[in-house]
Amino acid sequence: MYALLLGFPLSAPMAAYGKMSAGAKLAYGETYPIPTPGNMHAWFSNLPSNATCEVLIQVAYSSVNPSDRSPTMAINDHYPKPAGSDVSGIIVGTTAGGCKKLKVGDAVWGDIGPNTMTVSGSKTKQLGGYAQFAVALDSQLSKVPEGMGLAEAGSLPKVALTSYKALVWYANLDTRPMDERTILVLGGSGGTGTVGLQLAKKVFNATKVTTTTSADNFDYCRSNGADELIDYKTTNWWEVVPDGSQDIVYDCVGQSGTGDYAVKKLKPGGSYVTITGNLAIRVPPGVSQHSFINSDTNLGSANLLEALASFKDVRMTSLKTYNLSDVDAAFAESATGQVKGKLVIKPPPLSEEGRRAAIDLWGAEQPVEARERGLLRGTDRMPAGFPDVTRAGARLTRPES
Ligand SMILES: NC(=O)c1ccc[n+]([C@@H]2O[C@H](COP(=O)([O-])OP(=O)(O)OC[C@H]3O[C@@H](n4cnc5c(N)ncnc54)[C@H](OP(=O)(O)O)[C@@H]3O)[C@@H](O)[C@H]2O)c1
Repeated sequence: MYALLLGFPLSAPMAAYGKMSAGAKLAYGETYPIPTPGNMHAWFSNLPSNATCEVLIQVAYSSVNPSDRSPTMAINDHYPKPAGSDVSGIIVGTTAGGCKKLKVGDAVWGDIGPNTMTVSGSKTKQLGGYAQFAVALDSQLSKVPEGMGLAEAGSLPKVALTSYKALVWYANLDTRPMDERTILVLGGSGGTGTVGLQLAKKVFNATKVTTTTSADNFDYCRSNGADELIDYKTTNWWEVVPDGSQDIVYDCVGQSGTGDYAVKKLKPGGSYVTITGNLAIRVPPGVSQHSFINSDTNLGSANLLEALASFKDVRMTSLKTYNLSDVDAAFAESATGQVKGKLVIKPPPLSEEGRRAAIDLWGAEQPVEARERGLLRGTDRMPAGFPDVTRAGARLTRPES
């Protein structure tokens, strides 16, 4: 039907490979079909009940999360797709009948990197933020918070959802008595740590927030809510934080041994939550510990994003922008482990012709129930006659052996 490159710079290298750890390569300069409307309903078996429609988003920004660099998540799939979890942009199409809360023209944000299951029972991952267009369920998105720019909105979803779940779902920060809100955030200057500090101090009014970071980031962490700072390069936090002094320890670093040190720092009733490290081997009575994967619960996060949007103090206070064509350099910077705040990714501009073609694809008359068309069902393959509208993007690939 269409054979268009959406303003993709044809002079770009067809495969610019970054120095990836663990054997993954990053390929930028590829093009991908835009999934047809209804494709997610046909493809995934575990859709949440609050998914009322699918939308086509013209991507403004995505971002780099450490997991976006992981070689295992994007390459074991059945058809090539762009990498990238976070997305901000403008809705340019919806499935037939529209959505309950969102409409064409809305600026939205969301994390489109959940772990999912195909209708034929394989584990997969959605992804697709590193591209000119992305497709998502309305249950994964909400409107960009008032007064927030699209770059900031593209940086926040995964780190904000993760820190919210860590502190509220697992550590019950929101319902703890006000005198039981003493918190240690390990790694306060990264993406998750930034939001962890803000939620602790500015949203849930913690009495004392301690964090670990390097001395260069002390001012940054103070501005986000830290009261006490420990330079991890000169001081081991477990040697200076008194035992039994914290209600919550939130670990965004994952150093070896953290769990066993952390549980000793907790008061009775305290919670240790790690998003990246090991749990304690010996847990003292009266305290709890948790680890979780945000991506396991992210197909229906619209309500959490709405809550986060209402917290005016949840912001990304340090941003650095890379063009999608330089995504390998952004990955290399992220891999140093020294990013303050977030790195955001900006896709190449669209030609008007390409933009119109994509919108026409999604605006065309659509079946009421995509599943009935048998798209992808049981085959995990692209259906024959898949429309040939493409988008520029970047993905992780396995290296040639
Ligand atoms: N479980 C989940 O669902 C989930 C979700 C999101 C992220 N994660 C994981 O959580 C971790 C943090 O993610 P992120 O996005 O926040 O990473 P990030 O932004 O890349 O974190 C970088 C920050 O970590 C700080 N840092 C490095 N080593 C440190 C240490 N020993 N002590 C204190 N701070 C240290 C750095 O500070 P300096 O520059 O001062 O050194 C830098 O500001 C990653 O491992 C990520 O994969 C898990």
